[in-house]
Amino acid sequence: MAILVTGGLGYIGSHTVVELIENGYKVIIVDNYINSNSNILDQLFKITGVNPLFYKIDVTQKDKLEKVFVEQKIDEVIHFAGLKSIGESVEDPLRYYYNNVVSTMVISSLCIKYKVKKVVFSSSATVYGNQESPLKEETSLKKTTNPYGETKVMSERILTDVSYAHPEFSITLLRYFNPIGAHKSGLIGEKIKSSTNNLVPYISKVAKKEKSKVEIFGKDYNTIDGTGVRDYIHVVDLAKGHVKAVQSFKLGITTYNLGTGKGTSVLELIGAFEKVNNVSIPYEFVQRRLGDIEVSYADSSKAERELGWKTELSIKDMVKDAWNFEKKRRTY
Ligand code: NAD
Ligand code: UD1
Repeated sequence: MAILVTGGLGYIGSHTVVELIENGYKVIIVDNYINSNSNILDQLFKITGVNPLFYKIDVTQKDKLEKVFVEQKIDEVIHFAGLKSIGESVEDPLRYYYNNVVSTMVISSLCIKYKVKKVVFSSSATVYGNQESPLKEETSLKKTTNPYGETKVMSERILTDVSYAHPEFSITLLRYFNPIGAHKSGLIGEKIKSSTNNLVPYISKVAKKEKSKVEIFGKDYNTIDGTGVRDYIHVVDLAKGHVKAVQSFKLGITTYNLGTGKGTSVLELIGAFEKVNNVSIPYEFVQRRLGDIEVSYADSSKAERELGWKTELSIKDMVKDAWNFEKKRRTY
């Protein structure tokens, strides 16, 4: 089986490429390096011993991407390529709508033209907006809090309509909760941009003494300790979920939550990071972050039932592997 992986050099894409190769798939990566670089290809080779086919192409450019469909026999597509910073999407919404929505349209149209009838799409728990957890796939979608989230909702709708018009297609929407951690080799992990303000990258900066303390956004949420609760999932578990998804395509459109089903608070996560890695993470409480929700965790029972997938790695594994990657990153 040959799988075209768009955004395959990114954080989730690269971990998924490793799992796909280890499960015997031929992988063709397309990425334009907007949030990655050629070094990741070397790291993938070090981990797997395989050099995946690679094209440096912007997936919004249909004529260029079409070349890959002409040159390669593609059985399935996993579409990761996208921009993912909430803050950037608020500042420059058109860039986000263009990149994330046009790419989905281009890929859909090439899949129709070249009869590649199996597609997995990277969606996000952000499509649920602010609703009560545990979140189930059938929960109707609410307005999200930012343009990035809207690009995911729009892409899901586009793919749903494609599946109605082409009933011979199998399209799987995977809604990720909060991926953290890194491959245990420490060779691949998450690229941190200066604009990143997700929690674990920030904790890592404090652990590396690049920042003096973590600012905890709010201490009066209705949660175990007043801080926000999220469903953190190890990126390797998430990657394995993609392998299960490509092994279990069903005709039509199918949606799965990929999360652990368990919530962890900001203070719990900081505490785990300190304890497991034996580092000190100073913090202070500040105002709630605009658009933040109190609690978000998955009901992942559908993925367990239908894909035979559930997470295996714990919060301890996540913070250990995240820090292992950060320490190694300092050297390259
Ligand atoms: P990432 O930025 O690490 O990876 C995305 C990759 O896509 C990068 O290598 C980037 O260079 C590439 N890319 C972006 N636009 C492209 C384009 N037009 N053409 C070709 N390549 C392009 O992000 P990630 O964390 O690995 O996320 C992968 C997907 O999962 C994204 O669609 C993201 O929105 C979605 N997602 C991520 C999270 C998360 O927390 N990381 C959560 C939910 C959903
Ligand atoms: C954010 C995005 C979400 C996206 C997800 C993917 C928003 C509103 N949502 O979600 O759309 O799918 O990232 O990774 O931005 N926190 C702090 N201090 C920090 C950073 C975070 O206290 O410096 C807290 C947050 O308030 C939250 C938790 O840590 O309670 C996790 O935050 P974050 O990692 O940014 O993820 P989400 O808010 O879940």
